[in-house]
Amino acid sequence: MTTSPPSSRAELDAGPVQGLDDERARIVKLGVRAPSGRPREVIVLLDDDGLPRAFENLCKHLPVPLDGASGDVLSDDGRHLLCGTHGALYRFADGYCVSGPCEGDQLDAHDVEIVDGRVKVRLRPLENERF
Ligand code: FES
Repeated sequence: MTTSPPSSRAELDAGPVQGLDDERARIVKLGVRAPSGRPREVIVLLDDDGLPRAFENLCKHLPVPLDGASGDVLSDDGRHLLCGTHGALYRFADGYCVSGPCEGDQLDAHDVEIVDGRVKVRLRPLENERF
């Protein structure tokens, strides 16, 4: 496995949009590792307005995946992304942290669109590429 990210603007297929509404949040493995050794993953979801969003699966408090390898990133009420380590809550629409030790910070967002029924993600640079 390589440590270099996919081509900076490579389009990644994150699966069919069908079913995403029921799943609420889908974790997509990118098949590469960050310089820290962290396997890179993207969380894709439909926000409260039905718009597709994509965020790096990486908490803003500490450089660990939100899901902690559990595959579950939703709060109990299903209204926010939840970091399973210390409970930070992030908004679906913009990844803004509304509660927790990193309140006021924002998840690293990526560009996302729906093309022919598929979720397509284009990675943006991370705020801190070391993680
Ligand atoms: S590592 Fe996510 S809230 Fe602490």
